[in-house]
Amino acid sequence: MAGPGSYWIGAEEKKQVMDVMESGYLFRYGDMEDANFQHKVYTLEKEFAAYCGVDYALATSSGTSSLFVSLLAMGIQPGDEIIVPAYTFVATYSAVIYAGAIPVLAEIDESLCIDPRDIEARITPKTKAIIPVHMLGNPCAMESILDIADRHGLAVLEDACQAAGGSYQGKKLGSIGRMGAFSLNVFKTITAGDGGMIATRDKDLYERAFAIHDQGHTPHRAGVQVGSRQILGLNFRVNELLGALALAQLRKIDRIVGTLREKKTRLKELISDSPGFRFRTLNDPDGECGTLCTVIFDSSEKAAQVSRSLGTTTVDHSGWHVYANMEHVNKYLKENNRPHGLGAYPRTDDILSRAVNISVGVVDAGLGSGFGININSSDEEIAIAAETFRNACLG
Ligand SMILES: Cc1ncc(COP(=O)(O)O)c(C=O)c1O
Repeated sequence: MAGPGSYWIGAEEKKQVMDVMESGYLFRYGDMEDANFQHKVYTLEKEFAAYCGVDYALATSSGTSSLFVSLLAMGIQPGDEIIVPAYTFVATYSAVIYAGAIPVLAEIDESLCIDPRDIEARITPKTKAIIPVHMLGNPCAMESILDIADRHGLAVLEDACQAAGGSYQGKKLGSIGRMGAFSLNVFKTITAGDGGMIATRDKDLYERAFAIHDQGHTPHRAGVQVGSRQILGLNFRVNELLGALALAQLRKIDRIVGTLREKKTRLKELISDSPGFRFRTLNDPDGECGTLCTVIFDSSEKAAQVSRSLGTTTVDHSGWHVYANMEHVNKYLKENNRPHGLGAYPRTDDILSRAVNISVGVVDAGLGSGFGININSSDEEIAIAAETFRNACLG
């Protein structure tokens, strides 16, 4: 199965997509004077920027594209070092590597997000940026991260791919750093099957990102083009069908996140008296997305026993998001004389070996959340999942 947005695809998405099908315009650019042209991508960008409370948003082909385009827009150069967490999806690393820079991994803490104390220890004269990843919809400790970035003159690019709709101290995740990258793949809060967004307050960064995502063009290909382009771009554009689907989902995002939070609160209440674990730290309990409920056991043995009886795995064995399980990334780190392989980030290894992800809205074995509930689960289904979890803890 997949993420919460995908469970709620319905009449609104169909209507938006049919608008495009009937318009005769599939490309994101069209004749603004023609009433048939639906300009869904343009509208999506405007509404997403407003939702995030920033001036500019850009739709891209994926969260990976959003990270890559943002790094290039920020002027990251070959050899620059970028600090990233040791627990994240592979794309956080690959975007940095393909931008020519070096990912420098830092430990996570019990929020399962990057540990600000370890960021400071990894800074060298080559460090140019930090990528805090709001893992599993949980905000990073942005106050400390921004403070470190300010003191060392570093840029902050938020990887909010798993966290659209979340916030930190009242600000939307992805709107706090210089740039924010989002994913619209099928496992995310809102989805268009695939796709991504970039958010920024900075006009120059937006214009650079726009050009990089579309062959060097100025935003919306407005103004003088040929002969005056300064930036060599690529193609990470989206088409009107994706824009239409994403627009319908964006208009549901607060209802989606609100529902997840309610269901998660219910689940937590029902399992909180089970023995042997604590809930992961939430850096802003009011702002997390509620997509997952992560529990951290006192020992890895207990976590393994509970996850086995739930038919799932501890997070360290969940595969997709754990540095130690990424053979390609470890090969790269080894070739670049960087710490690599299991044991290189021992605090991360320890926390992940004691952690179990219970799904609330993201049902994804690749994230270790094969067990749990989903956004449509009834109170009765939540009670059954809670009972199953409690029995596993007692076993
Ligand atoms: C933390 C994180 N960063 C980046 C990405 C990449 O997003 P996409 O799959 O849209 O390229 C993902 C997607 O799973 C993610 O979870």
